[in-house]
Amino acid sequence: MSCYAENAPIVVERAEGRELIDVDGRRYLDAISSLWVTTLGHRVPELDQALREQLDRVAHSTLLGNGNRVVVELAEALAARVPVDSPHFLFASDGASAVEQALKLAFQFWTNRGVTGRTRYLAFGDAYHGDTVGSLSLGDGGFGTTVFDPLRFPVLRAPAFSDPACIDRACALVREHAASLAAVVVEPLVQGAAGMRMLPADRFASLGRACREADVLLICDEVATGFGRTGALFASELCGLRPDLMALGKGLAGGYLPISATVASARVYEAFLGPDLSERTFYHGHSFGGNALAAAVALRHLELIDEWDVLANVRARAAELAKLLAERVGPLPVVREIRAQGLMCGIELAPPAAGLRWGRLVTRACVARGVLTRPLGDVIVLMPPLTITAAEIEHIVTTLREAIDEVTGA
Ligand SMILES: Cc1ncc(COP(=O)(O)O)c(C=O)c1O
Repeated sequence: MSCYAENAPIVVERAEGRELIDVDGRRYLDAISSLWVTTLGHRVPELDQALREQLDRVAHSTLLGNGNRVVVELAEALAARVPVDSPHFLFASDGASAVEQALKLAFQFWTNRGVTGRTRYLAFGDAYHGDTVGSLSLGDGGFGTTVFDPLRFPVLRAPAFSDPACIDRACALVREHAASLAAVVVEPLVQGAAGMRMLPADRFASLGRACREADVLLICDEVATGFGRTGALFASELCGLRPDLMALGKGLAGGYLPISATVASARVYEAFLGPDLSERTFYHGHSFGGNALAAAVALRHLELIDEWDVLANVRARAAELAKLLAERVGPLPVVREIRAQGLMCGIELAPPAAGLRWGRLVTRACVARGVLTRPLGDVIVLMPPLTITAAEIEHIVTTLREAIDEVTGA
């Protein structure tokens, strides 16, 4: 906050389509989907309508021991789409809570089955799973989290995606430590917060196999990759993974409202069945878990993804984005690497010296030209809404090129 005024933050007042409009009437193309949550755009008439109609029914009622029609309908619709066997849903509000729930479910799964010693998790280098203490423990640190190290529980750490042997090493660790592992946690395909670190999809199947063979639960964190970003509805599908547990968030309700979900396979779910209020019960819940307004938007959002063939647009625009970046940005000597999967894209800069903050300067120059993005260190993140047009893709790349030229004095 001590630098807030100097940074001249944009104060948004309203939006139209994929543009945010600030209090001074300036327009910004939302090229980071409001921190990776907005899928179809802002003020989508159909989503607005779903929200209004739900307001006329009920805004929220607790799911603790009760149900709510629209939340049940959402669970049914999601069940047909998630790559999890006979899925069951536990709703929360944020991605970190969904991960936290998955961690606790995996832990208690073994306890409920009378298995002792399954108390650890395997996570990857560079991982990010959220900011609550459990999800922070799974994460590999960074982002100023060192101060919390004394609170973080230790995990078994596989190498980061930047190491081509990371999956093989993770599989070996799973085999070696199976007796002490509750679960493996992975961001399938793309580690977003790590700076859009990626692995080819076909590398992940062996991880799923290793977990199955060693009887270790697999948790896929699709908070960032879920709901179409990678070109499939879920990255796990591209990776050939069918996790035991899955964390969903961000785009679940199109970026309109905070709703997340932990998905559990029938095998996990059934381990919690038992007498009323017994030690098998999962004593966990959040006040707003399964909010009806958010569920109504999420349900309509899922329908629109199909009705508008959003995934086809993602794939077509992703191809254009990759081509334009390769032509106009990739050849610049100040660009180290371009990484892209669907509409998740990171352009890593190669500053000549440390501490130049090129990432921040380039994104600032983009924002000044009306394209809103935000860096991860020296990685410029481009993650536009899934309904982005070819003209807007062209505008983003042109703007990025101008911004890089300005900052690097080219
Ligand atoms: C893979 C992943 N998991 C979890 C989270 C945490 O989600 P939230 O910020 O909604 O708590 C994020 C956020 O960026 C994420 O990228």
